[in-house]
Amino acid sequence: MIRPVRKAVLPVAGLGTRVLPAGKATPKNLLNVFDRPILSYVVAEARAAGIEHMVFIMGRGQEAIEAYFDNNPELESTLEAKGKTDLLDEVRAELARPGEMSFVRQMAPLGLGHAVGCARDVIGDEPFAVLLPDMLMAAQPGALAQCVAAYGQVGGNVVAVEPAPPGEAHKYGIVALDGQSGRLNRMTGMVEKPPPGTEPSNLFISGRYILQPEIFELLESQGSGAGGEIQLTDAMVRLMATQSFHALEYEGTTYDCGDKIGLLRANVAFALMRPDLAEAARAAVTALL
Ligand code: G1P
Repeated sequence: MIRPVRKAVLPVAGLGTRVLPAGKATPKNLLNVFDRPILSYVVAEARAAGIEHMVFIMGRGQEAIEAYFDNNPELESTLEAKGKTDLLDEVRAELARPGEMSFVRQMAPLGLGHAVGCARDVIGDEPFAVLLPDMLMAAQPGALAQCVAAYGQVGGNVVAVEPAPPGEAHKYGIVALDGQSGRLNRMTGMVEKPPPGTEPSNLFISGRYILQPEIFELLESQGSGAGGEIQLTDAMVRLMATQSFHALEYEGTTYDCGDKIGLLRANVAFALMRPDLAEAARAAVTALL
């Protein structure tokens, strides 16, 4: 039986060194993409995929994330008094629904595998999604919804992948496939940040996962791997010994917002995608060139 995916883990604790100084006092996933923080888009993507509960794995000094999804009574009453109902509606659409969000503190930055492991008790014994919010995905349907649909076909574990730009595969987790036909293929292996020239394919793990809860036990005993960090990829490789893994080459575009140029691209791209403001955005960007 394929059990539904109702919960998602969003690891947001990273220090954001690639976007300093912007990410110094503002959590990097609250940095702006056009008119809202990165996390706003990722939460919308999770909701559109049917996620009912999101578990944020937080670092120190990231209270602004909770505040973003909480009421701001002063702001809301001011907008109301001034009759700015459109803005008020937009602000309220961002609020967490009752009981929708949990915030778990990761006590030390020990790696993505450790971060996901911190969600163990909140997720419990059911399949769950992981969304790496740095990786902003423009897709229709959303990238996670595509993963959930693929999971509905094959069950087990599903990992979104996409071709790495030439020469960049060593920066990511890379998958090995059991042959390739169409977009959804069974995986035979994975390796985190392979040395250049040793990559088993050019398909990198792009930041959306559907995982079975058995991963948690493996994460608890997972030693450190690439970069001295506890890697989710390494625990997935161990889970692959007993469970199926499929790679889904999702249809859409990824913007790496953990990177300055990626964040710039996302800002322009998401402005151009907004029906209400695309024309003005295009004129403003074109005028700069
Ligand atoms: C993490 C994952 C890696 C994945 C990448 C996508 O790496 O470990 O497998 O390809 O995210 O952004 P990180 O970027 O945290 O080094």
